[in-house]
Amino acid sequence: MKKIVVLGSINIDTILNIARLPLPGETMAMHDRSIAGGGKGANQAIAAVRAGAETSFIAKIGKDHAADFMIDTFKNDGLNIQNVTEDNVAGTGKAYILLDDHGQNSILIYGGANQTITVEDIKNASETIKSADCLITEFETPLEASTEAFRIAKANNVLTILNPAPAKQNIPEELLKLTDIIVPNETEAQAITGIEVVAEPSMAQAAKKMHAMGVKNVIITVGANGSFYSQSEKSGFVNAYKVNTVDTTAAGDTFIGYLASKLDSDLSNIEEAMKFASKASSITVQTQGAQNSIPYVKDVEI
Ligand code: RIB
Repeated sequence: MKKIVVLGSINIDTILNIARLPLPGETMAMHDRSIAGGGKGANQAIAAVRAGAETSFIAKIGKDHAADFMIDTFKNDGLNIQNVTEDNVAGTGKAYILLDDHGQNSILIYGGANQTITVEDIKNASETIKSADCLITEFETPLEASTEAFRIAKANNVLTILNPAPAKQNIPEELLKLTDIIVPNETEAQAITGIEVVAEPSMAQAAKKMHAMGVKNVIITVGANGSFYSQSEKSGFVNAYKVNTVDTTAAGDTFIGYLASKLDSDLSNIEEAMKFASKASSITVQTQGAQNSIPYVKDVEI
């Protein structure tokens, strides 16, 4: 069984259903609102464990009801939460998701406890990192913590996957060099490279620039169109499954958790792993909400 560690965020998502995004100064009614477990890190960890991997999570919560709710979810899913610790001051992270009638979302984040993860917390989790096959992280937790985690991983031959989300410019060179696979979407790829990613030639161009920055393997996800990969010797495109999209929240996180659970350490099955990940995210987008919409492996097998 694959051993995966995720370092990342935990959020309680408040989903606001609206016809369209409000204009500046406009007051608008919502059709509905609801609460769901979220956070890119937590979503990725839940995707990995539901894909069948032995999954550990490194994260921080507040001392509040939101934390109790999330811990119950993690325990039900069988995540190893030995390295999920409490911050005494900051609250558990929150996300406010504006979801329009076409399934498109805009997300506002309150980082809270996610932003209090320290290098010391990562050092305390070093045995967990060292014993894993793969470490995944994203940008809803502090950069110094991600970099330290990747240092430990690479010193111990652990595969590193970076999801550079939310989009960030000027990612430190050291982090990129410690990254085995970077998985941005088109917006994040543009933020990193300055290249507008629209079709396959621009994906290849953006990937080439990321290779030049020190990342050996690049996978760019382009939503309902599919995903593109580029390695030193080969590249290719995997089409997405055509489905009726209700909500794209956590589609990218599902892709990453499932990808990591399937990938061989030499990445020789990258296309097969991307197809599997793509099938899983095509299920996620058919239900509203993040963690409640992430499928179990029995519903994904292709
Ligand atoms: O990637 C989706 C996630 O982004 C949501 O669950 C929300 O919490 C934000 O972190």
